[in-house]
Amino acid sequence: MTSDKNSSTTILLQLSTRPEPYPPHVRQRLELDAKEIIARYPQSRSALLPLLHLVQAEEGCVTGTGIDFCAEHLGLTGAEVTAVATFYSMYRRTPTGDYHVGVCTNTLCAVLGGDAIYEALQQHLGVGHGETTADGAITLEHVECNAACDYAPVMMVNWEFFDNQTPESARAITDALRAGHQVRPSRGAPLCTFRETARILAGFPDERPGANEGAPGAATLAGLHTAEGIAAEGDPAGQGA
Ligand code: FES
Repeated sequence: MTSDKNSSTTILLQLSTRPEPYPPHVRQRLELDAKEIIARYPQSRSALLPLLHLVQAEEGCVTGTGIDFCAEHLGLTGAEVTAVATFYSMYRRTPTGDYHVGVCTNTLCAVLGGDAIYEALQQHLGVGHGETTADGAITLEHVECNAACDYAPVMMVNWEFFDNQTPESARAITDALRAGHQVRPSRGAPLCTFRETARILAGFPDERPGANEGAPGAATLAGLHTAEGIAAEGDPAGQGA
């Protein structure tokens, strides 16, 4: 705190404190996991992204404690780890509910209903962007292009796709999640929690049934088929260029 004798203004300096380290049993467990992750890479610093998912799996977001853990194990500075953790939106800096619901509000989804879905969920859940319902079940965010524009408007729950959504279907999905029902995305395996998802993203096995199955859908292949048709018309003999 400083005060200027010529001024009545008082300035409070809020000095940040060092984050608390993980409790010994947590640290011991994370160190084993971190060792396994780091061993996959020729240079340890290349393991930063999966290691950030690992600490996110522990706490539901990337905290100062997680940043210190990553920095220490990869020979990086806290500033370097923070720069990466704050660049990628998949790393959250505030606590996350069991289910992270991301509604795409980028241009294509927005005009096809994404904005209406996001608005409906805000009202239905009583939370805004980045906020979590009081029961800790749902964290709502609007996200930018989920790379699934062919199925717009798209919503993601823990990074799994829910295609061709409407405000009604989106509300029903969040209701089912809050009621504890098992929910299947449009593609892929049944949902697991946000922390379980983060651990899979850290590179540990995804043992959900059907997790590694699936094929591109008709909408995804439509452009390819159109291009193939055009190529065939331009090359009726099928001789190629
Ligand atoms: S604009 Fe929504 S997935 Fe691309």
